[in-house]
This record gives sequence, structure tokens and C-alpha cells, in this order.
Amino acid sequence: MNLKEMAASEAVKYVDDDMVVGLGSGTTASIAIKLIGKKVKDGMRIVGIPTSKDSETLAKSVGIPIGDLRARPAVDITIDGADEVDPSLNLIKGLGGALVREKIVAYSSNLEVIVADDSKIVQRLGQKAPVPVEVVKFGYEATVDKLQRLGCTVQMRTKWDELFTTDNGNFIADCRFPAIDDPRKLESEINNVPGVVDNGLFVGLADKVIVASKGGIEILESNSVLRARTTSRAP
Ligand code: A5P
Repeated sequence: MNLKEMAASEAVKYVDDDMVVGLGSGTTASIAIKLIGKKVKDGMRIVGIPTSKDSETLAKSVGIPIGDLRARPAVDITIDGADEVDPSLNLIKGLGGALVREKIVAYSSNLEVIVADDSKIVQRLGQKAPVPVEVVKFGYEATVDKLQRLGCTVQMRTKWDELFTTDNGNFIADCRFPAIDDPRKLESEINNVPGVVDNGLFVGLADKVIVASKGGIEILESNSVLRARTTSRAP
């Protein structure tokens, strides 16, 4: 079993009968989706809320019934990946381009479980990864100009030599900051720029981070008092 499989296997132990389950995006979350599919085949009844079109396609292919936040506004558990995890369990997400839907589902989740291998652990966010920022196509050059004034260098994400388009029909500006001292402040500064839909800083959203390394599994837990989630949570 590789590290991503180890983390995903641990995470799916939290999935139980009759739960509404947020289905993350990326390679590690995809392993979790396949494992949840096996549970469904074995008779477990759950409803999945996908965080991307890719996750939805995968979930359907392994037999997971799909729902949406309108019918299922309270998600019991979400299992998702991350690109960076800091010591306070703040995250950078979105190198797969699904950050907006991932954040919407995370804010609706009672328990946000992040699965990662130990390469994702950093002392300070931005050490390795840029902050992905989803921007609307209209006037995106002006949006990028304003993002740069926050102190980052911006690279527009491309795929097959064209600007990458998200599931929501927008572009992604990858913003590399020299140092991110205050992720919460930066998250809102970025979101205050007109044209920005949301960004990949996930502050106070992760409840557990399951980290797999050669030494085994470690489960990092957040201090619930520090949670930033503003929506109501399921009873
Ligand atoms: C998708 O948009 C991302 O947020 C992923 O969760 C993140 O990139 C981690 O992906 P991997 O598990 O593939 O590293």
C-alpha cells in the first residue's frame, strides 16, 4: 500500500451508514472515493456530494449515489486532499482546480477530514505551493494586476497550451507569495479583489488531517475553538 492509499484507508473508517459524505478531488481523495464505493457495494447506504465533475464521474462509476447541497445541506463528513498543511491545520488546496466547490462543501461539513502524505506538511503555507485563485474570465488581466499588488507573482494556469478553465467556467491564477504570515488575513484580502471567486487558502476548516509516512499514520486534530466555519453545522 502506498502512502496515499494508507491515508485514504484510514479516512474511510469514519464513513458510516446513512451519512452524507463530501467527496473530495485529487489523487488521494479519489482513492477514498473508490474505497467508499466498495463499502456501498457491500451494502452501506450513503449519499455522496462531489466537489468536482471528475469526482462525480468517479463516484458514479463506483456506484455511490449522488446528492447535492440543496437537498442535503448538512454534510456529515468530507474526505479531501490538500497541497500544503501547516501546524495549525490551515491548508492550501486547489492545485487540481476544484478549490471553489471544495470550499463550499467544506463549509457545509460537520467533519472535514484531510488525507495527505507527509510531503504536504510545511512549517508555513506557501513554502512549496502557490495559492490558487479562481478568477472570472471577464477582465481577468485587471484582476491579476490587483492580485500582484498584494505582493505575489502570478502565473495563469494552463492546460494543453490554453488557459485552464475550472468546472465553474473560470480561470485559475496561481499566486506565489514570498511568505504567508497570516493566512486568514490573506484569504480575505485576495477575496476582496473584484473578479476573484475564491482562493485556495482553507483557514480553520480542517478538523482532522490524516498524514501517511513511511513510519505509519498520524492523525492531527484541530482545536475546535479555533474553527472559522460560519455556516450552521448539522445537529
Ligand atoms: C484539488 O483541487 C485539490 O485541492 C486537491 O485536493 C489537492 O490538489 C491534493 O491533490 P492530491 O491528493 O492529488 O495531491
